[in-house]
Amino acid sequence: VAVVNVRRATPADAASLVEHIRAIVSEPVRTTPLDPDEVMDVATERARVEQFASSSRAIMLVAQDGGQIVGELTIRCISPRRTLQHVASLGMSVRASHRRRGIGRALLEHGIEWCRSIGITRLELYVFADNAPAIALYEALGFQHEGRRRQVVKLGETYIDDLVMARLLD
Ligand SMILES: CC(C)(COP(=O)(O)OP(=O)(O)OC[C@H]1O[C@@H](n2cnc3c(N)ncnc32)[C@H](O)[C@@H]1OP(=O)(O)O)[C@@H](O)C(=O)NCCC(=O)NCCS
Repeated sequence: VAVVNVRRATPADAASLVEHIRAIVSEPVRTTPLDPDEVMDVATERARVEQFASSSRAIMLVAQDGGQIVGELTIRCISPRRTLQHVASLGMSVRASHRRRGIGRALLEHGIEWCRSIGITRLELYVFADNAPAIALYEALGFQHEGRRRQVVKLGETYIDDLVMARLLD
């Protein structure tokens, strides 16, 4: 059972979010298409959080344990076009020290409720093809496999594939 608090991010979380993201991208097993030296500074991250907070078509959720951010989930609509307004895309992470406690599931369930509340009926994501924990989480939450993007990410000199997954909501 998750003992952490899931809530919307506020600009005051920026420094803790940067620390969290830095920890995720610095893990020996890469799971995110962001190199450690490209992690945003706190001011840039604060502006990013403010954009999420002021948008009706995007959300950033965080999981907090004490004073520390230990998980984050972002969802944003992929296009303002009427034809694509029902589609949103997600990204997420949970600190290594806090995994397998239900935090990822809690973040995703909150995110799905938010999608429903604003009429999003397709939630999609990309996940590195070798990221078994994340794939297992998404499968457990009803996401289906839709395809593979070959060599879409380059980590150092190595290209890797990712998988397209999506869940239809209604
Ligand atoms: C993927 C990630 C977010 C999962 O977060 P988490 O808080 O550990 O997930 P939960 O504890 O809520 O797990 C929910 C379910 O997902 C599945 N799951 C999660 N991690 C798993 C693992 N390592 N192996 C097998 N199944 C796993 C299980 O079905 C689990 O339910 P259970 O614990 O009752 O068996 C986390 O591992 C992470 O942040 N990884 C690095 C960043 C990342 O990969 N982000 C996603 C990029 S697309």
